[in-house]
Parts: sequence; C-alpha cells; structure tokens
Amino acid sequence: MPMLKIPGHERQRAREVSLDEIRAVLGDCRLCGLCETRTNIVFGVGSPNARVVLVGEAPGANEDAQGEPFVGQAGHLLDRMLSEQTRIERSEVYIANVLKCRPPGNRAPAPDEVMACSPFLREQIRSIWPDFIMTMGNPATHFILQTEVGITRLRGKVHRAGHFAVLPTFHPAAVLRDFGKLPDLEHDFYLLGQLLRGEVDPDDPTAGSAESMPGFRPSAPGEVLR
Ligand code: URA
Repeated sequence: MPMLKIPGHERQRAREVSLDEIRAVLGDCRLCGLCETRTNIVFGVGSPNARVVLVGEAPGANEDAQGEPFVGQAGHLLDRMLSEQTRIERSEVYIANVLKCRPPGNRAPAPDEVMACSPFLREQIRSIWPDFIMTMGNPATHFILQTEVGITRLRGKVHRAGHFAVLPTFHPAAVLRDFGKLPDLEHDFYLLGQLLRGEVDPDDPTAGSAESMPGFRPSAPGEVLR
C-alpha cells in the first residue's frame, strides 16, 4: 500500500502529519467512481489524540447527507455500546470508514474503491497512532488485519497488527439485522473498555475469555434493543 505524499513532510513518521493535512490532500477526491454519486465526503470524526480508532465500512445515506460517520441507526447503537459497555464517549474516540464515499444502495465496497481510498485511512491511523483499533465488520477487519478470515471467527479476541492491538467486532448494522449478535457486540465493547483502562493485557491470550471479564453482564438472548 503506497504512502500518500503529504506536502511539507519528507519523512511522514507516525503522528507527524495532522488530520487536517490529510483532509487537504483528499480535497474533492475523484480517485474512484463514487465521487459521481456522493453528496459529501465522510472523512472521519473525533479526537486526534484518541487511544482507539474505530473503523467501519463506508458511509450510508445519513452519513452521506451529513458528512459524518455513524450518525444513523447503526451510529446510535455504536454510541450506546461506547457509553454503556466501554464507558467512554464518542468524542474520546476517532471514527472513520474504509471508504470515504457512499457506495450506491449501500452495496459492499469494490476492490478498486478500497485500493483507491484506503491510503487515506492508513494515514489517518498513522496520524493518530492509537494503541487500539476496533474494526467493525468484514471489510474493515480484512483491510486492517490483511486476512480473508470471516468476522465471526476473528471477533471477541485481541489481534496484533504491528504497533496496534486490533479488536474485531460485528458491524452494528449487522446486529440491527440480527439481535442475536447483540451479546457478542456488548462483549467486544466491554473488552475494549478493559483494555483502555489497563485492566487486561492486550497480549494476554486469555483477554476476552469469560474468566477475564467477571463483571460483564450481556443482554439476555433475544432481548430487543430499546
Ligand atoms: N456504516 C458504516 O460502516 N459506516 C458509517 O459511517 C455508517 C454506517
């Protein structure tokens, strides 16, 4: 994956380039066909000093209209997981997507779109240089972990990608389609809170096991979202 050339930076070390500079390079991007149908580029939102970056797939209709990631129903579930399970607020994290523009009809990202757009996500992550990356759904997980293994097998445990501890979980939209996945989503956001508070070691293979999270109380199976 190529590094973007950011004007004024020769070396582009971690945390050297600001999010504003990356946004300026993105400009009125025309690197793939999604520029023809988007309303807004959805760059990302949150703290430039976040300890965790949350990565989704691509903007949906609400995000395209408002220019901010995760502002629709999936976003409300995400906010709820962060406050109830992780015990942090949305403003303390950074949220971005693999694609910055909405695929028409919310279809899955095409490989050429991921190829064109993902260098911007890569630079955003290098700019923030968080301790943790939470990937939500298959496209984000496959991009960050460079694997084709499905999310159901990867979620619930901590993985390593160089400097970063990576915590894959279901996409909130998938949980809205199948409430049976809610306890797993709650588990993963609870584990994220433990990691952020230093209560578990990301490199401990038992992180995420039932014994390592005695205080975790998931919703009852089949419980519907309020
Ligand atoms: N789904 C995503 O993957 N990203 C968003 O920003 C909204 C919904």
